[in-house]
This record gives sequence, C-alpha cells and structure tokens, in this order.
Amino acid sequence: MSTMLVTGGTGTLGRQVVPLIQAAGWTVRVLSRHDHDRGDGVEYVAVDLLKDEGVDAAVKGVDVILHLAGGPKGDDLGTRNLVRAAEQAGVGHLVHISVTAVDQLPLTYFKSKLGAEQAVRASSVPWTVVRVAQFHDFAWNTAKMMAKLPVLPVPGGLRFQPVDSRDVAQRLAELALGEPAGLVPDLVGPKVYSLGELARDYLRATGKRRPSLPIHVPGKAGKVYRSGGNLTLSGADVGTRTWEDFVAEQK
Ligand SMILES: NC(=O)c1ccc[n+]([C@@H]2O[C@H](COP(=O)([O-])OP(=O)(O)OC[C@H]3O[C@@H](n4cnc5c(N)ncnc54)[C@H](OP(=O)(O)O)[C@@H]3O)[C@@H](O)[C@H]2O)c1
Repeated sequence: MSTMLVTGGTGTLGRQVVPLIQAAGWTVRVLSRHDHDRGDGVEYVAVDLLKDEGVDAAVKGVDVILHLAGGPKGDDLGTRNLVRAAEQAGVGHLVHISVTAVDQLPLTYFKSKLGAEQAVRASSVPWTVVRVAQFHDFAWNTAKMMAKLPVLPVPGGLRFQPVDSRDVAQRLAELALGEPAGLVPDLVGPKVYSLGELARDYLRATGKRRPSLPIHVPGKAGKVYRSGGNLTLSGADVGTRTWEDFVAEQK
C-alpha cells in the first residue's frame, strides 16, 4: 500500500483532505506540531517544521508528500526543511499549496509563501504547486475580527475570490493522487467580492450592525489590490460552492 505524508493534516484544509486520500486506499501519516490519536487509522507525528527535528523520520518510507502546513510566518524556512528531507528520502512527488498573487504582494505572509513555493520548485523531487485564493472560512474569520470593533474599517478597493475549502480539499486530493504536474492553474471561487461586501454579509448573517469607515491601504500592496492584481480573472480553475452557500451554512 502506498503512503502519503500530509503536513498540516489537522488544519482547516487538512482535516478535509485526509479522508479523501484514505478513501483512495492510501496509508496516511499526518505531520503537525501537536500530538493526536483520533483512532481514525492515521499515524500522527508531532514535528515542528521550523525546528527541523524529526523531519527525516517523518518522511521515511513516504511515496508522496502533500504539504499543507502553514502559519502566519516562516513557511519558507519550514518548507526548505521539508524539501531537504524529501530529497534525501527519495520521495516521488511533493504537492504544495501556495496562494494566489504570491509573487505580487510585498507583504510578510506572501513573501514567506513565495519562498516556500520557490523551495519546492527548485527541488529535485518531482513537484506540483497550486496557488489558491482565500478560503470562505478565512473571509468569514476576517469579517468576524473586523466586527469586533465598534466601527467596521473597510479598506477601499480590496476584492477577493473566496473559495470553499471543500472544493480546495477535492482539488488537492486529485493533485496528490495524480502525477507530478508542475505549476497548475490557480484555484479561485466562483465570484469576486469587495471586502466590504463580505463583511456586510457576515454582519447580516450574525444579526450585527456596525457603521463602516472607509480606509485607504497605503503603499505598493494597496496599489496591487486596487488594480485587482491579487485576482485571477482568467485561466483559473473555479470552485463550485459560492460564498452565499457558505454564509447560509453558518446559521
Ligand atoms: N486559509 C486560506 O485562506 C488559504 C488560502 C490559500 C492558501 N492557504 C494555505 O493552505 C494551507 C492550509 O491552510 P489552513 O487554512 O488549513 O491552515 P490552518 O487551519 O491554520 O492549519 C495549519 C496546519 O499546519 C500545521 N502547522 C502550522 N505550523 C506548523 C509547523 N511549524 N510545523 C508543522 N505543522 C505546522 C497546523 O497544526 P499545528 O498547529 O498542530 O502545528 C495545522 O495542521 C496553508 O499552507 C495556507 O498557507 C490557505
């Protein structure tokens, strides 16, 4: 039986991908920083990719790595550690989730995701990389955070193509079970929304009211957002579930 290591297999996305890989008949090992024993037939290994201890043991005997682990910073370093171990272990395929506009936005998170992507693409392990738009869950949580303030700050010109994490899980499973494919088309949601629209939908769904305050996003990042440089308007794979579907499910 073939074995797949899913890094970040306990996260929002990972929890949805793991059962799909198991259903395809694979043995699954999950790597994250915390220990788990869920009695679900998965082997959980506690490894911090940023510390680079135990990564070699985690990749031993693995045919494919699906690399979903990520955090607000350090994904470049963690991915370099993973790639080094994967190369030494002779892993056959490394699939990596990146983020849309990763090479456009000069923000810390995007810079570290770009470093991660570059580490995978420069690796001697056959690879697949897919850049994915923000998940519905992320948009919802962002609106929730904004609504904690008495006045809703709405950055002008920010638009997103939120995608359902179930659609992302499906696509990632397909890529991980397939052959190495290099950089594949971006995956985005079916519609474009301003951040103001997403926040208003959150307020309506949760029965909250807030006055909004338009704010200006300065610098190069602001320019990229206002020009739509963070969007993939052609050539992308498009998820099936809409933001409206997702919001309706939150009630
Ligand atoms: N959410 C989005 O909108 C979005 C959009 C595009 C791309 N992505 C990418 O998709 C991936 C999954 O996102 P998600 O929303 O599912 O993230 P998430 O819910 O925050 O889960 C992150 C996972 O990574 C693990 N992890 C974090 N830091 C780690 C480290 N240093 N070493 C080992 N494991 C670590 C976490 O487990 P522990 O906490 O136990 O370590 C968890 O399993 C990330 O790479 C993210 O950048 C996300």
